[in-house]
Formats: sequence, structure tokens, C-alpha cells
Amino acid sequence: MTSIVAIDYEISSTCQARCPVCVRQSGGKLKDFVQTQRTLDETKHILDGVASGLEFVKLCGNWGDPMGCDVVADICEWLISESPKVRIDISTNGAIGKPKTYQRLGKMGVNIVFGLDGSDQESNELYRRNVKWSDAMDNLKAYSSECTAKDSSWQYLLFNENKNHLESAIKIAIENKIKFFTIIERPVPFAAGMHESIDKVSGNQWGKHEIIKREGQQLPVYFGAGDYRDVEYILTPAFDMSEKVKELKEKYASDLHFI
Ligand SMILES: C[S@@+](CC[C@H](N)C(=O)[O-])C[C@H]1O[C@@H](n2cnc3c(N)ncnc32)[C@H](O)[C@@H]1O
Ligand code: SF4
Repeated sequence: MTSIVAIDYEISSTCQARCPVCVRQSGGKLKDFVQTQRTLDETKHILDGVASGLEFVKLCGNWGDPMGCDVVADICEWLISESPKVRIDISTNGAIGKPKTYQRLGKMGVNIVFGLDGSDQESNELYRRNVKWSDAMDNLKAYSSECTAKDSSWQYLLFNENKNHLESAIKIAIENKIKFFTIIERPVPFAAGMHESIDKVSGNQWGKHEIIKREGQQLPVYFGAGDYRDVEYILTPAFDMSEKVKELKEKYASDLHFI
């Protein structure tokens, strides 16, 4: 046994979604790598001598969605059999994979982080392109049906264009007994360290908003200038939401833990 107690393990390089800022999309990268997934045997081989000492396994995915792996539940089951107290967290757009798999994962106590940025098909697909809302809801319900996970969560990327759906999303999370709700108030590329510059750019003549047509959809786009020339931001940050976010966190604090 090694002294490794936590790992971030990549089990899938595939994903049905086309989120605009995902690393999969940038510069045509999607075409440059093989769409594949780990098998249980490969996992056993890779984690030989490590699995029994693990306390935390993160299945987040950089190049893909972990729920794109057909044997994700088998892998989790094996990890738990090797190290019964291991905490497993899976991040997903929620609409890839079958309800039965989600139900199994919930039953075995795996924490799923549902990355859903709206409260219906239209609002969610502004960022989560190609994600079928009804599939995500079927999977969420199946996951919750016999869930024993202590740290399940919903992660909401907050944009101007989906801000009016935040409260409805919180209600859906509560209905499905999700434990944590994370509101990302400045989604990438509006990340820490860039706020000030982006705030400045958005408020004056250097930036410009337009509605463009892409893949048959009308989308709000922000074109930066100056240091940010040529950078195209598909959705705009919700600059006016700090107070509202505070209010919602207080309102629903007894039903959900907010991060
Ligand atoms: C590449 S994704 C893989 C996991 C899963 N496919 C998903 O989207 O949740 C890794 C993480 O990046 C987050 N993410 C995607 N686009 C983002 C953005 N524009 N800003 C901040 N986080 C983002 C996802 O929500 C997820 O937590
Ligand atoms: S769901 Fe996750 S992995 Fe898939 S495109 Fe969106 S951010 Fe990328």
C-alpha cells in the first residue's frame, strides 16, 4: 500500500455536450484526441496497491464527462470494496448516462455534482449546449430515489442570461434532496483575478454586446477589446446579482447548504 490518500482520476474523454468555454471546444481540441473511457480492469491495474488506502476520489473530468464511462458504477463499487470509507465525488452535466447508473451511484453513497445552469431546456442549453434537460431530470430523480450520499450537490454557473432561473433551480435541487448548492458567480473566463478588468471592459466603450446566430440559436455574445481583443465571451456575467444571491441563500438556508 502507498501513502496516496486522494486522487483525481480521469475515466472518460467523451461528452455529449458542447459547452462553449469547455477546454474540449477551444481551438478545435475536440478533434485532436481519442474519445475513450477506462475499463474496470484498467482501473484495477492503474490503482493496484493504491485503492485500499484511498480516502478521496474525484471523478471530475478535464477532457470529458465521467458519466460518459459505461462502467462508472462498477468502478465506484470496486473502489468502495477496496476502501469502504472512501469519499467519491463525480461531476457531470447530468444528462449523459442512464437513470439506472445514477440510482446505483446514489444508493452506494457517491456524491454527484450536477452541473446544471438553468431550470428548463431553454435556460440550461444557453451554456450547456446539447444537454437534454428531460434526461438530466430523469437521472437526477433516479439518483435521489435511494440516495445515501452526504455531499451531493448542484453547481450553477450564473450568467445574465440564466439568472432568472436560479431560484427555480434551487427549488428543483431541494425537491430532489440535494445537499449542497454552489453558485459560481463569475464563471470562466470571468474568473478570480479577471473581475476588475472584465468589469471595466463591460462598462465602457471597449466592450460590445451583440446577439449572434449560431447553430440555429440566437446567443448573446460579448466581444472584449484591449488586452482582451479577439476574445469572445458567449454569455455575460450577472454583475447585478450579489444582493439577490445573498437573499436566496438566506431564504433557502434551512433546506440547502450554500457554497
Ligand atoms: C470540464 S468539466 C467536467 C465535468 C462535467 N462534464 C461538468 O461539466 O460538470 C469540469 C468542471 O468545469 C466546470 N465548468 C465548465 N464550464 C465552466 C465555466 N465556463 N466556468 C466555470 N466552470 C466551468 C464544470 O461545471 C465542472 O465542474
Ligand atoms: S459538460 Fe463538462 S465536459 Fe462536457 S462540454 Fe460541458 S463542461 Fe465540457
